[in-house]
Amino acid sequence: MSGGDWRLSEMANGMERSRILTIAASVRTMISEGHDVAPFTVGDFSPEHFSVPGELITGIIEAVSEGETNYPPAAGLPELRESLSEWMKHRYELDVGPDGIIVGSGARPVLYSSFRLFLEPGDGLAHGVPAWNNHYYVHLNNAVDIPIPGTPESRFLPTAHEIADRIKDIRVLILNSPLNPTGTCFTSDELSDICDVIITENNERKRQGRKPVMLVYDQVYSTMTAENITHVHPVQVCSEMFDYTITLDAISKSLTGTGLRLGWMALPPSLAPPVIALIGHMGAWPARPIQKAAAKLYAQPELLEKFFKQLDVRIEERMDILEERLSRLSIYGVSYVKPEGGIYLATRFDLFDQLGFITNEEIREWLLVSSGVAIVPFQAFGLIEETGWFRISVGAVGVDDIIAAMDRLESALKIAFGHEPRA
Ligand SMILES: Cc1ncc(COP(=O)(O)O)c(C=O)c1O
Repeated sequence: MSGGDWRLSEMANGMERSRILTIAASVRTMISEGHDVAPFTVGDFSPEHFSVPGELITGIIEAVSEGETNYPPAAGLPELRESLSEWMKHRYELDVGPDGIIVGSGARPVLYSSFRLFLEPGDGLAHGVPAWNNHYYVHLNNAVDIPIPGTPESRFLPTAHEIADRIKDIRVLILNSPLNPTGTCFTSDELSDICDVIITENNERKRQGRKPVMLVYDQVYSTMTAENITHVHPVQVCSEMFDYTITLDAISKSLTGTGLRLGWMALPPSLAPPVIALIGHMGAWPARPIQKAAAKLYAQPELLEKFFKQLDVRIEERMDILEERLSRLSIYGVSYVKPEGGIYLATRFDLFDQLGFITNEEIREWLLVSSGVAIVPFQAFGLIEETGWFRISVGAVGVDDIIAAMDRLESALKIAFGHEPRA
């Protein structure tokens, strides 16, 4: 039936493709056509610049050659759940035990499952803006969207004050730190203030026999932090949050293995059975060989810490160059928020008055065509206002690519503005 009358479901009719992936695909096409473009777009790692730990590769090959090719259990291999639960305890003081760990093929299936656990149609799903992909999950769950806007002053993180204003309407709050797209992290105080708001509300709801606010804490970039920045987990700053927190993590970013598809959820163990069933029905479990390999690696925290340290050095190297080069462009209306973790930097190109642009999309196109600088506007992260904010990702670029791209950008701005930057 071509062009037929399928009458798709409301859910299917409202489905949108990821805007980030669409931009990234067009950038890949430009690169394949020979254009000089620095791909600052994807939240991915090019294996040319960032390789996964050797032990993981050896472990996968060994597992395949030993015949580990059949179905894994839906919740994950017991040895993997055991080593991940020890890891979460060791690194984040979060003790859910092996029964409180459920693995999935990346963070996405466990993220989806955590929403499905609690949200009824019409329930409030609150999230910061800008933030990664929440608007798609609002749609998938038929939830009511509760955007909590961040500001450059709050390093684009949602604040306790803003959350308190909407807390009565919230069933699930998702927080992400370090934040995609800004690379900023909650401090202990900021997170503790938010936890206080949740606990106060939940104590009140308990008295009234109402459903509590649940926190989904997405910490897939938690092992990547800048110097002097410490990642904090809600239970570390407020032990009462244990019952209300679902933690999401993955090797996609921390071990730079986005294509290996292993993520997990840590939650109070009594909540696990429906999630295990859902992951099983979706068939969204990670392949058995990656589970075998990760079980071995996560049982060796010292090896992991060594890997994370060298990764931080290479991310910082790239961020330092970016910061230095973007600072030089402040005369042209360029600014940025200091990155604290993850692989992203939030930068602003305030080219509206001087160069006559009206939308972020116009600025994005100009940067791409004039300088081969491919970046993602905050509109892809739910921001409505056309304020010139963009995400730069350093996962798929080398130091030389950044320098060359910044040289091209500086020249293009100089020509467009008709003058040299001040020293
Ligand atoms: C904040 C955040 N959470 C979750 C994910 C999804 O991770 P995965 O690739 O493991 O599904 C991403 C991916 O970009 C992300 O940025």
